[in-house]
Amino acid sequence: MLSLCIQVFAVLAVCSADTDKRDISYTFRAWNIDQPLKEQLAVVYKEMESLKHEQAVMKQKQEALSQALPYCSQKPIDTDVEMNLTSLQTGSSHLPYTLTQGEDGAEGSGEDDSDEALDPCFHYTVLDQAWRATNYSTKKVSCDRSVQWKGWYRLFYRGKTIQMPERCVKKEMCGTHAPLWLVGGHPRIRDGVVTRKVCGNWRNNCCLFKSPPIQVKACQGNYYVYKFVRPEACHLAYCADINTLVCGKCKKSESCISRDKITWMCKKNKMRVKANVHFFATYPASISGKVNTIVYRKVYVNQGEAFNARTGVFRAPFSGVYQFFFSTQTGGSGTTDLWLVVNNYWVAVSHSNVQGSNSVGNLSTYMTTLRKGATVYVTQNRGRSWATSASNTIAFGGSLLMVRKI
Ligand SMILES: *[C@@H]1O[C@H](CO)[C@@H](O)[C@H](O)[C@H]1NC(C)=O
Ligand SMILES: *[C@@H]1O[C@H](CO)[C@@H](O)[C@H](O)[C@H]1NC(C)=O
Ligand SMILES: *[C@@H]1O[C@H](CO)[C@@H](O)[C@H](O)[C@H]1NC(C)=O
Repeated sequence: MLSLCIQVFAVLAVCSADTDKRDISYTFRAWNIDQPLKEQLAVVYKEMESLKHEQAVMKQKQEALSQALPYCSQKPIDTDVEMNLTSLQTGSSHLPYTLTQGEDGAEGSGEDDSDEALDPCFHYTVLDQAWRATNYSTKKVSCDRSVQWKGWYRLFYRGKTIQMPERCVKKEMCGTHAPLWLVGGHPRIRDGVVTRKVCGNWRNNCCLFKSPPIQVKACQGNYYVYKFVRPEACHLAYCADINTLVCGKCKKSESCISRDKITWMCKKNKMRVKANVHFFATYPASISGKVNTIVYRKVYVNQGEAFNARTGVFRAPFSGVYQFFFSTQTGGSGTTDLWLVVNNYWVAVSHSNVQGSNSVGNLSTYMTTLRKGATVYVTQNRGRSWATSASNTIAFGGSLLMVRKI
């Protein structure tokens, strides 16, 4: 298929090179108007489609072959009953398979700074053997000890991506006597390559066989690669958990999760925003009469830099739920009103009324959902607020409680 593509492109290249010589503007028009060229392309696409189909059919045939082979090679002597996986391995049913970036949700793997040329997520051997499934009860007995394991493997079940079981599997399943399962669960992408224990269930002991540990890596696109090694004994075989077939259908923005390690489902990834927004500022002197925006210039905390000490205005850096507080201390008889102003609306008051030489403090709080960019400040509408640089009685502060899309 690849060589055909190259040929086709070579033809196209020749066409355009010819026209190039004559008139460049014609070349551009040719792509839009020239009917024969369009038809040519249509034929090419059709050809590619049918090749794809052929490939799928061939894969199915290979699958059937790999299913049938073990029975053929069965011998009466017990040690040889295990089929010769070594020859199967190098045979046609396990094509070494490499993916290039962009083909399978590789986008965004840029955060992974490992060298892609060596990344096992793109360089693995396909292991698509239906008998490894957890719902396959044994008719034949395989032993992964006779496999010459080399490099990394990705598990498939009839062409669909599948994972190792994360819990004990009943004996005599997975086409073997003691099924091998992954202890400690699969890693996350950010964990990179991890080492995990592998256990084989036998005689009501989920880990009677402590097989050598294997390496596992999570890849973009909800699949895993395993660096399988020879198990310690026969007959042990690595399992493919049929219940995880659903995981192959998860979208890029989803993870496959399971509480009981039996039922698996796709779940949307939580938006992880590192949003720490907290501020606390005070006005270090007394305020008399009407002040449109109190410029709290003594800033104690300004995590996230959302509060502007020059203007006294807080601007929400994320959409989410916010809590604010503001206070005053009345400095003389009469009424003092401070208002919290959100997006130019007066939403909460800190009010105090004292007679004579009394003095009273008043603290108000307010909680609200804000869109990103919303503004919040405090205004003194009337009265007298008392403070010194040490008293911190005229204060304004707040926190982002949670990020939330609105
Ligand atoms: C398995 O097959 C390979 C290659 O055909 C051969 O060299 C080897 O002896 C076989 N092993 C067994 C146990 O039959
Ligand atoms: C195992 O499960 C798969 C997927 O649900 C199913 O197609 C297959 O028939 C099952 N195999 C057996 C032996 O039950
Ligand atoms: C504090 O402010 C609240 C809200 O405006 C008001 O109801 C209360 O009377 C005030 N407390 C004092 C002691 O003035």
